[in-house]
Amino acid sequence: MASYLETATEIAREAGALLAHHFERGISYDLKGDFDLVTEADRASEKLVVERLHSYFPAHSVLGEEGGLREKAGEYCWYVDPLDGTTNFAHGYPAFNVTIGLERAGEMIAGVIFDPIRQEMFAAELGGGAFLNGRRIHVSKAPRMDSALLATGFPSRKRHENVNVHFFHQVSMMSHGIRRSGSAAIDLAYVACGRLEGFWEFGLNPWDMAAGLLLVREAGGRTTDMKGGPAELRGPHVAVTNGLIHNELLELFGEVFEGRYRYPMPPVTSGR
Ligand code: IPD
Ligand code: CA
Ligand code: CA
Repeated sequence: MASYLETATEIAREAGALLAHHFERGISYDLKGDFDLVTEADRASEKLVVERLHSYFPAHSVLGEEGGLREKAGEYCWYVDPLDGTTNFAHGYPAFNVTIGLERAGEMIAGVIFDPIRQEMFAAELGGGAFLNGRRIHVSKAPRMDSALLATGFPSRKRHENVNVHFFHQVSMMSHGIRRSGSAAIDLAYVACGRLEGFWEFGLNPWDMAAGLLLVREAGGRTTDMKGGPAELRGPHVAVTNGLIHNELLELFGEVFEGRYRYPMPPVTSGR
């Protein structure tokens, strides 16, 4: 019998093909909030993934971004982001994925992130390591923030409440730079495979992070919240790194949370 991970991989590949097909045809979108986009592809991908999961695992709960929680008694719950990177997708910007994670009794045990444009399948199982297209991956060995490339994101919803720009400025001043891919799952996958040294974000949802957090841990990285507490799927923020730069990053975040800035923002008039 196929393992949970093998089944999730197969479903993600099928959903990824569906996303790629919609992407090639061109996309129109609806709005869930002022700037919060949803496309036909989000809904079609979620329908496919949820139908497959229900047919293979009828006793498991499923929480999907578009359809909410389909709850069953029992200890297994699947988290599904049928299209992570919807804003990219809707603009024809080729950076998006489908991600599926499985939790058993509160612990993540399997997860996949599939990027159908690059044909990259990231997969991890608790205690079994992390893989990219079947090859073992590890976090990077960069030892310090001054040799690190990081990523972050900004939410579509409630963006007026988001304080991340303060953290963005400080991190940008002491690292090689910050990428903003528009896909949290890809950012997490890239930390796992060493393309990035770190990632942080406020206000993510469980389906954005479920697979990616497991992937980073299985690749040897460290996952916490931005204050050093445990990384919670429903927590207010998350910080993940290759482990080596973690304390340095949290120290900087601690200062910003207290309103102390190492690098003041330059006045606009200085940028003529
Ligand atoms: C979004 C992306 C983005 C992150 C947002 C998420 P969606 O997911 O992961 O990178 O910054 O917070 O909501 O809406 O494209 O599935
Ligand atoms: Ca998402
Ligand atoms: Ca989504």
